Amino acid sequence: MKRLLILTGGGDCPGLNAVIRAIVKRAAQESEWEVLGSIQAFNGILWEPTEVVRLTPEVVRGIHFRGGTIIETTNKGGPFNWPVKNADGTWTTVDRSDEMLRKLQYMGVDAVINIGGDGSQRISQKLFEKGLNIIGVPKTIDNDLSSTECTFGFQTAVQIATEAVDKLVTTAASHNRVFVLEVMGRDAGWIALHAAIAGGAEVCLLPEFPYDIRVVREKLESRFSRDRGFAVVVASEGARPQDGQQVYEVSTEVGYENKKLGGIGRALIGQLKAAGFSHDMRETILGHLQRGGIPIAYDRVLSAEFGVKAFEMVLNRQFGQMVAYHHPNLITVPLKEAIAKPNLVAIDSDLVKTAKGLDISLGF
Ligand code: F6P
Repeated sequence: MKRLLILTGGGDCPGLNAVIRAIVKRAAQESEWEVLGSIQAFNGILWEPTEVVRLTPEVVRGIHFRGGTIIETTNKGGPFNWPVKNADGTWTTVDRSDEMLRKLQYMGVDAVINIGGDGSQRISQKLFEKGLNIIGVPKTIDNDLSSTECTFGFQTAVQIATEAVDKLVTTAASHNRVFVLEVMGRDAGWIALHAAIAGGAEVCLLPEFPYDIRVVREKLESRFSRDRGFAVVVASEGARPQDGQQVYEVSTEVGYENKKLGGIGRALIGQLKAAGFSHDMRETILGHLQRGGIPIAYDRVLSAEFGVKAFEMVLNRQFGQMVAYHHPNLITVPLKEAIAKPNLVAIDSDLVKTAKGLDISLGF
């Protein structure tokens, strides 16, 4: 019997369960493969006692439309940065990767599929360099992985953000207000730009292009005649003014290394007031609603494709590679290439030209 270990790492994302189900169903067609799931990314292996579950077609039945991940996830720590408490109560990190690889060998694991975003795939690449038979599946609502045309979960997040714009338009119009909708995406503006175009927003602020508050103010003023008018601004959480910084907190959560972005909506309203904009304004932070709940059909299909292909990559021993989408086919790319640079919105892209053609101000 051969053993495949699968795990989900980083922030959760609609479609994770659909990938898990597809891997397990495809593996069940090969009589000699058994599939195990490590709980909370690699933690299930690193913990004592080990926490892994056997994933059979019965276990994954009907999970393709469930949000979250049945094997849990984490965006803290990991085999190369395992948090350890010092005697004085402070924390440090240790590298437990060699120990983990020995444990995987002892458990008889022949191959690993790591379903995760850029941080998780960096871990995959480092483990591959240490000799692990590992394959990556690109997950993230942010769509910031450059070697795939789309990550699963992204389109669901866009759908949720667009529905939020639609709802804010009606309340903004009723109250003659400006609404600022803050959406996720980290340093990539994909969710914001897609939702602004799909929802018909007036302004869209992206991390890639720092905004000039005077340009934003002028655009919003143009939407009002005396006190009547309304507008919706979609602001990506990583957006920043030309003369300022992103709004974020440094997390105090042990093992959490990312910036905790959030607060651009409130900050923008303050900047607009300071710039003399006097109409009523409110902000809405969409937050983790963008990651929860059922994946839309597009993401279920993409997840299913990624899952089946990832298992076939195991059969073909294409280790050190990540499955990727290149319309209309699936391709494989070296993990090293997949993590080399992020996928960001380009100023000369047709999507940006479309936004401009629709009179959406990008704030510069
Ligand atoms: O990377 C996915 C993402 O949802 C980002 O868009 C967001 O900045 C971050 O994760 C939030 O992470 P957490 O779940 O730790 O709050």
